[in-house]
Amino acid sequence: MLENLPYFQKNLATDLGRVNQVVGRAVQSEVALISQIGSYIIGAGGKRLRPIITILAGKSLGYDGDPLYSLAAMVEFIHTSTLLHDDVVDESDMRRGRETANNLFGNAAAVLVGDFLYTRAFQLMVGSGSMKILEVMADATNIIAEGEVMQLMNIGNTDISETEYLRVIQYKTAKLFEAAAQVGAILAGASAEQEAALRDYGMYVGTAFQIVDDILDYCGDPAEIGKNVGDDLAEGKPTLPLIYLMHQGTPEAARDVRDALHHADRSRFEQIHAHVTASDALAYCARQARIAVDNALSCLDKLPANETTLAMRQLAEESLARVS
Ligand code: IPE
Ligand code: IPE
Ligand code: MG
Ligand code: MG
Repeated sequence: MLENLPYFQKNLATDLGRVNQVVGRAVQSEVALISQIGSYIIGAGGKRLRPIITILAGKSLGYDGDPLYSLAAMVEFIHTSTLLHDDVVDESDMRRGRETANNLFGNAAAVLVGDFLYTRAFQLMVGSGSMKILEVMADATNIIAEGEVMQLMNIGNTDISETEYLRVIQYKTAKLFEAAAQVGAILAGASAEQEAALRDYGMYVGTAFQIVDDILDYCGDPAEIGKNVGDDLAEGKPTLPLIYLMHQGTPEAARDVRDALHHADRSRFEQIHAHVTASDALAYCARQARIAVDNALSCLDKLPANETTLAMRQLAEESLARVS
């Protein structure tokens, strides 16, 4: 998605090349299965949004040292480990256009290699020598775990409020975007105000991003998003489109959604998908994502106006492009 934008065309290949060098080295282990599964998921691609945010945050304040790239790789490692674990928990079978690691290598191997990538990320952080970065990432990963457990507790919960659900999003997804931006800020020696602006930018982009991901779970093209649609419903997840229908949909839609969440199974997808698309649920979600993006853009007003902050504006807008 970003590849078509001029800034990214000019810089992205070089920047990600530097990140990928670290990734390629850090994924190696003398235990062959680790390198095999690690390379399998990392090599499948992915948008690399979070490391890009780390790099842009650092560069927006004029910093471009090597640690920016190794910590961007660290952020991608944390992300990849959560994907390995998330696909086991969600019983997903497609990720980044490939069969998931859990499907191919089994749950045990996927979980354990997830742990390897996760702990490798902490080794990379320690390498930075920054106690503050270690603190930000320790707090962020702890919150992500809380978010995934909160989500688990809300499986089949038809009473969850939108506010409660937005907290799940903030924890499980937005927190890593937030930390990704904050790490770049810290490396660049940001002032407290700049660091807060970059942190909040990440948080808002991450929020928009997860709302869009929830929309795509109903209306995405599997070939484009690289994963199956319908996973959320099959898992009984009350995501934003369904919360909207339960509150604002027709009585019939609200009843069917509640019933489908209580008896989660893939066979209900067609029915619920029909309700989602016949209503303005997705338009409502897109408006909520838009609000988050606008908030992200306001944060950038507190930073120097330069080609990097302009690229950060484009990145925020692009998070919506997938559903508009
Ligand atoms: C997937 O994130 C997990 C969510 C937070 C929705 P991405 O959509 O950024 O995954 P990749 O890295 O591009 O595969
Ligand atoms: C993503 O949640 C959050 C994390 C990976 C921590 P999802 O379950 O919505 O992500 P996808 O749709 O599987 O990528
Ligand atoms: Mg999932
Ligand atoms: Mg999803």
